[in-house]
Amino acid sequence: MLKIKDKILAAPLLLAPMAGLTHSALRTLVLSFGGAGLLSTEMLSARRLPKENQYVSPYLVRTKEEFPLSYQLLITDVQEIGPAIVALHRMAADVVDLNFGCPAPRIRKAGGGSSLMSDPLRVRGIIRTARRRTNLPLTAKIRLGERLEQSSLRDFCTMLQDEGLDMLTVHARLRGESFARKPHWEWVEKVKNWLDIPVVANGGIFSVKDAARCLSLSNADGLMLGRAAAQKPWLFAAIAREIYGISVPEWKISLPRLYGEFALGLTRFRPERRLGRLKEFTHYFSLNYAFGHHLAMAVQKSTTLTQAWRQAVCFFERTDPEGMIGVADEEVSTALSSPYISDVMRP
Ligand SMILES: Cc1cc2nc3c(=O)[nH]c(=O)nc-3n(C[C@H](O)[C@H](O)[C@H](O)COP(=O)(O)O)c2cc1C
Repeated sequence: MLKIKDKILAAPLLLAPMAGLTHSALRTLVLSFGGAGLLSTEMLSARRLPKENQYVSPYLVRTKEEFPLSYQLLITDVQEIGPAIVALHRMAADVVDLNFGCPAPRIRKAGGGSSLMSDPLRVRGIIRTARRRTNLPLTAKIRLGERLEQSSLRDFCTMLQDEGLDMLTVHARLRGESFARKPHWEWVEKVKNWLDIPVVANGGIFSVKDAARCLSLSNADGLMLGRAAAQKPWLFAAIAREIYGISVPEWKISLPRLYGEFALGLTRFRPERRLGRLKEFTHYFSLNYAFGHHLAMAVQKSTTLTQAWRQAVCFFERTDPEGMIGVADEEVSTALSSPYISDVMRP
């Protein structure tokens, strides 16, 4: 059982925050299979958040089924935290997460993400302020730092806990390590041994076997899945069932139908925000096929959503005709060219 402050998750499996990916359409898809205990937004600029319209912003649009939902804040300055938390209360956030792990140079240069791990005093101020401003579960996500070195990592993590953090997710890579590098899952166990709050392991989980191995090395209280959520949205359900013994229905997977459902979910965004999101998702989803790069390239080159969908249908008809059975081709086409936003939560 994973409990974050007073919130008990139905499964100790979390969707990772991913810019351009963990929006309403992907969350709905993950939910449809079951097994995920906590969903997440993409990282949200704490500075801009108070001015965003939650019913229109592609980062904030959600349906009422997307629950419980963690909102991840990208903070660069302690001043931003108060107004951002007021906005998150208004948006009915279930969990407030703070990004201390993003290695992107642009974010680091602005003083956010992983650059904050080198400035524990600022982070202390941020956590202290956030803790004073909210009773919601407060969590953070980090990488392992600049180099594998215990004392600074321990000091940083215990400081987070001392300031009132309720859960910590560790992406088990150093700041400079690419996704091609093997994650250091055994370092998550070190972090876990230093802390009393739950510690969640993240990085490189793409199968039930990976999840089992990660758990055996990290002894983590939960697992967070990122890219695999876009490639195999059913993986949460499989891990919940096979590792945690949670009863989750088994579905027959049809990849084309799944792709169509994701595309329908995109209609919650304004038309100009749909194609980019389809491309980002397709990049990961196409890995399910041996010749998936043809699908990824065809969608990547498309200049309209209708064209992208047509290209995808052609690919599926060629490589996965059985999966195409029951795909509502026309319905998806029509929906994708519609200007309207369907089942978004409204005031
Ligand atoms: C496209 C993409 C966008 C990401 N955006 C974020 C983000 O907004 N916030 C964050 O904390 N991590 C972000 N990450 C990192 C993921 O949350 C996760 O830590 C990383 O992908 C490793 O997990 P995985 O191997 O399960 O994908 C992103 C990763 C990817 C691939």
